[in-house]
Amino acid sequence: MSYKFPENFLWGAASSAFQIEGAWDEDGKGMTVADYNSFKRSDKQADSKVASDFYHHWEEDINLMKELGLKAYRFSLSWARIIPDGDGEVNPKGIEFYNKVINKLLSCGIVPFVTLYHFDLPYALVKKYNGWEARECAYAFERYAKICFENFGDRVKYWLVHNEQNLMMRVDERMNITEKDIFKREKIRAQMDYHMFLAHALTIRACHEIVKDGKIACAVSSTVTYPMTNKPADVWAARLNNLFKTDYCLDMHAYGEYPGYYMKYLEEQNIVPLTKPEDKNLLRASKMDFIALNYYRTLTAREFPADENHPKGLRQEGMNEVDYDMYGYWKIEKNTNLEASEYGAQIDPTGLRIVLNDYWSRYRLPLIITENGLGTADTLTQDGKIHDDYRIDYIKKHIEAIGQAIEDGVEMMGYCPWSIIDLLSSHQGFRKRYGLVYVNRSDMDLMNLARIPKDSFYWYKNVIQNNCC
Ligand code: BG6
Repeated sequence: MSYKFPENFLWGAASSAFQIEGAWDEDGKGMTVADYNSFKRSDKQADSKVASDFYHHWEEDINLMKELGLKAYRFSLSWARIIPDGDGEVNPKGIEFYNKVINKLLSCGIVPFVTLYHFDLPYALVKKYNGWEARECAYAFERYAKICFENFGDRVKYWLVHNEQNLMMRVDERMNITEKDIFKREKIRAQMDYHMFLAHALTIRACHEIVKDGKIACAVSSTVTYPMTNKPADVWAARLNNLFKTDYCLDMHAYGEYPGYYMKYLEEQNIVPLTKPEDKNLLRASKMDFIALNYYRTLTAREFPADENHPKGLRQEGMNEVDYDMYGYWKIEKNTNLEASEYGAQIDPTGLRIVLNDYWSRYRLPLIITENGLGTADTLTQDGKIHDDYRIDYIKKHIEAIGQAIEDGVEMMGYCPWSIIDLLSSHQGFRKRYGLVYVNRSDMDLMNLARIPKDSFYWYKNVIQNNCC
């Protein structure tokens, strides 16, 4: 069955600054938390120093986007390229670089879709305030956002505030949480989360004041959690996993207050963040114009009773931070009905249809997918090509699920596969590739960094041309 898409559908592709740009300290850029953490693995795999070297290949790469027929390009600005220490002097070279990129995109007929913050907090702010733990960080972000709106807002109309606040918050490395004591650690996390919500609200307000016709949203890491069995306790456990890892965040963005179950958890754990009375109105009034979601896979959970040794609310130590279990709430299980990628992501296009329907019915805001893709090794074959039919299959099935959601009545703005070109995976360097375009480098050898469109590039080009999959 083939699906036809709306005329103005934004067929896009995505990336983020620290994962493609490289030039990590060139032309005045400051170090970021993402750089700092990637350097810890430099002896084993690629880091952000060169990444895909977009900083020196941007013209060639945007020409490829034009050849692909992209309608939109979702990318992020590096805060530390624009303000090297996070809240001090503006770096004119940073502004100049992004102006070149934006102007080139527009000259190719591609809509720039800009994320302000994709995991790369300026490291200077960690040293100064322990980053998001301090309220000052939210104000530093607001100032940075305003600088971006003032410099680029005449041409950039679509903005995303934080990439996946709900996911990055769980990962200590991304937030630079080093506290070992469990109680103190969760208290810091809750405070950081709140300051990011505050920054989100301040930024939405600034965008609406500064950018004429500007539209702004969050980019949430989305999933569905299925119950392991039809036991009501499992159904509830699955719901809780979704509520705690994604929905509380969307609700906070949409309604400006923590949902009851989340507040109860914060109170029970004695980790309610510090707030100011004046925040309330700001958080409630700062409304998103649409919702951007990143979608890769679904999860399955069952009930997980607390006991004497494992009190309710304790995060499981030493397990995957992204998909952690919580005593008294849920335990993640493998879903044997789904295939998994070689990195364990349970592939589930139907889950995407469910998520889209769910968000649409809850928030009635237009939706765009800003990330969706298959991370795997690719082989450059003797014929100088990359035959990634597995990626085509993954993307095709997910686009079909979007087609179904549109038929269900969901308002969809667009779709951006992750990623336009191969880039630094957040944890697996260049072993795990997502791109429609191959970048000829390995983890430890920069080789010639040549760009080679994969089979998926040509397949997607056809989808865009025909507006149909
Ligand atoms: C998303 C992030 O959560 O997942 C991307 O926004 C990331 O930055 C992507 O690259 C895939 O994850 P990974 O770990 O395979 O790179």
